[in-house]
Amino acid sequence: MRQKRLKYVNIELLEKHGVITKVEPLDLPVDKTIYLEIGSGKGQFITSLAKDHPDDLFIAMEVNLYVIYRILEKKMEMKLDNLIILLADAKYLETYFSKSLIDHIYLNFSDPWPKTKHHKRRLTYPTFLKLYQKILKKGSLLQFRTDHKDLFIDSVEYIKDYFDIIEQTEDLAPSAYMTEYEVKKRPLGPIYQLIGEFKDVK
Ligand SMILES: C[S@@+](CC[C@H](N)C(=O)[O-])C[C@H]1O[C@@H](n2cnc3c(N)ncnc32)[C@H](O)[C@@H]1O
Repeated sequence: MRQKRLKYVNIELLEKHGVITKVEPLDLPVDKTIYLEIGSGKGQFITSLAKDHPDDLFIAMEVNLYVIYRILEKKMEMKLDNLIILLADAKYLETYFSKSLIDHIYLNFSDPWPKTKHHKRRLTYPTFLKLYQKILKKGSLLQFRTDHKDLFIDSVEYIKDYFDIIEQTEDLAPSAYMTEYEVKKRPLGPIYQLIGEFKDVK
């Protein structure tokens, strides 16, 4: 996600406003439905969901310091007590979520990494899917949305080995919950979505 450097944004400022920046286990409630978006970008999707579902807990994970500040701005403006913001790389998921407490993972418009030598960086690549398996509850869902056809085709192949595919759409209708990317990309072509249900793969 393109976001220019913001001079006034630094780790101290983010921490002062409650953004989690250290790689350490999160203390999460066991009695809440927990939704995690990985690669949240500027946070339009997850903040809209959090606003409309105050009894559930939402977690935005984003690796870019300046992009994450945009999520923080929305959280403060919308007074969202049910949104945790993590400045974090998904490769450390197992450290943050030491138990299987997540009900739903969202991957929205993840970077496509089109070159074959970079495919392993994709957030739908099997190494990441194995991590998701470890932090998800039984009966939980993985939802992946993209405008990138090749990434979608490859991701269906990756995901079906780890999740039961319960929905696959090649022309998703607009909804109340769209990311900044979705709003930008919608006029240019179809939006693809896949929903997979947790499968116990050993
Ligand atoms: C193409 S942008 C899409 C942003 C947002 N989901 C949207 O649809 O508007 C991908 C985002 O994923 C973030 N990202 C990429 N790899 C990540 C990782 N390993 N862990 C956390 N965030 C990641 C990037 O920093 C970027 O903000």
